[in-house]
Amino acid sequence: MALLPIIVAPDPRLKRLSLPVEQVDDEIRQLMDDMLETMYKAPGIGLAAPQVGVLKRVIVVDVAREGEDPQPMQMANPEIVSVSDGDASYEEGCLSLPEHFAEVVRPATARIRYIDRNNELREIDADGILAVCIQHEIDHLDGILFVDHITALKRNMILRKLTKLKKEQARQASKEAAVA
Ligand code: NI
Repeated sequence: MALLPIIVAPDPRLKRLSLPVEQVDDEIRQLMDDMLETMYKAPGIGLAAPQVGVLKRVIVVDVAREGEDPQPMQMANPEIVSVSDGDASYEEGCLSLPEHFAEVVRPATARIRYIDRNNELREIDADGILAVCIQHEIDHLDGILFVDHITALKRNMILRKLTKLKKEQARQASKEAAVA
């Protein structure tokens, strides 16, 4: 297993469309395992392949609370089959938008179809934070970030702050490289 670098927004690689996986083979299982390890280390409750620079429709999720047994889920080609009429609002964050959070409204429950790590087709009904998390991760596969669901004013404020943070980090890194 290996830790993968997580891409921070704004970055054009986070805005691209990811391609379906033909089948879950050893290569995809390795990607799923590396993504899960990267997500736990971050720490986060979900991660999508484009966040680690891989434009494939693969996501990992674990919404177990602290103290509960881990509930890792690894999904290829996840898709929303149907959603509830009712919406729910949840304060979302994202490993590609570190330290930023905003209320996002989404359908409260969703039926999800996906291929599991054994290459078998599955369907589950998700609600609560699991529904939020899976919908958030599927968005990533279509180049959509949670800030795309909020007002432009708030989105631009968050992206401006992240741009500034990335510039500072790059400056710091080049300074350290010069010293070394
Ligand atoms: Ni995210």
